[in-house]
Amino acid sequence: MQKTIYEPVPVPSHVPPELVFDFDFFTPPDAADDIQLAWKKLHEVAPDIFWTPRNGGHWVATRGEDIREVQTNYRRYSQRVMTIPAAAQTFRILPANADPPEHEDYRKIIIPAFLPKVVDGLEAGIRENARELIGEIAPRGACEFIEDFARQLPIITFLKFADLPQGDRKLLVDLADAIMHGSDESRAAEAQQEMTDYVARLIEQRRRNPGGDVISMVVTANIGDRPINDEEVFGLVRLILFGGLDTLTSLVGFIWRFLATHPEHCRDLVDHPELRRNAFEELIRRHGVVNTARFITDDCTYKGIAFNKGDMIQIPNSLHGLDERITPDPLTVDFRRTHVQHAAFGGGPHICPGVWLAKREIEVSLDVWLDLIPEFSLAPGSAPLLHAGASNNGVLRLDLAWDVT
Ligand code: HEM
Repeated sequence: MQKTIYEPVPVPSHVPPELVFDFDFFTPPDAADDIQLAWKKLHEVAPDIFWTPRNGGHWVATRGEDIREVQTNYRRYSQRVMTIPAAAQTFRILPANADPPEHEDYRKIIIPAFLPKVVDGLEAGIRENARELIGEIAPRGACEFIEDFARQLPIITFLKFADLPQGDRKLLVDLADAIMHGSDESRAAEAQQEMTDYVARLIEQRRRNPGGDVISMVVTANIGDRPINDEEVFGLVRLILFGGLDTLTSLVGFIWRFLATHPEHCRDLVDHPELRRNAFEELIRRHGVVNTARFITDDCTYKGIAFNKGDMIQIPNSLHGLDERITPDPLTVDFRRTHVQHAAFGGGPHICPGVWLAKREIEVSLDVWLDLIPEFSLAPGSAPLLHAGASNNGVLRLDLAWDVT
């Protein structure tokens, strides 16, 4: 969504001057070339944990160890508010806005739908859809990768996963796009309303006619000994529907951009398919996309830093993978690196339940793409269009080209 400009706020009295660093996550310097690298520069120029007066004023934890602490210590760092700048929410997004132990009640409803064995059952379909999409693109010798592929496979897969009609594909992609990346604020508000109406219709339909899909699991669930209420159903369904679309498109976009500009890495994967599983984990490490945040629940001290109750702390997940204290030479993509560590899918109680599905889609896409288009590059004269965002960094446009023989 178009960025609202916030004036820097005054530094609160509990923040010492040496921990103040002026950083606006909507516009990290040099983000147009490499967003993750732009964030990484914070390791050189800012304190490990700093306070920025931008976007309402908030802390940023830049090191892997501290990102993990914030993700796992849910008593001190709550998800009841998780957007910066803090936005008025008319309903809770679940399970994200709930802290343990309440969080468990919601999470256990949806987890069965995401288990690896369920994803195994979807794999053949994902491969077939990837083959169809890439098979159609390959003879053209060029594509706009985001629109032609990276936006399509996640939504096709998701619609199957949630037992929704493929005819809803364009509608959902357009809504997610207008809300996450559109430059027109009134269109974004309209899209929010359309999304609300869509979710309401869907809930109604599944209540009347439940099946074995994740939405049906939600509408028929109990919380303890009472039936789930409307607000809870809405919060869960909305996150399930839209939590995985833009994130996956973005991550795939960053990975393909890397391969298009690093032919030697691409060739390595073509020549050594056995490397692909480790390689795609390494590519995920280098290209984390999600920025999340937490609400500090009490006045407290961490590593000598005084936090006040109500302060917000941002945890840019990509920086965990780029921290040289955890990963030596972190900017180098090394497909033979052992024990790849990252926090691209979060950590602690809220770790992404869609992780197996998302990883399988990336893995299959990589396999099929490299089989059909083993060499490709940026289209001559084109430059990828990147987006630095509040919850997500993304690739909005990526023109690719290859030889057709
Ligand atoms: C590349 C793709 C994806 C990435 C990078 C990603 C990343 C994340 C991250 C970082 C979190 C934790 C947020 C936090 O700590 O505040 C999260 C949570 C979540 N994700 Fe994903 N995700 C992806 C795909 C998906 C998919 C495909 C789905 C569903 C179809 C999904 C559904 C969810 C849900 C429901 C939560 C909330 C979990 C909770 O609060 O317990 N995600 N995701």
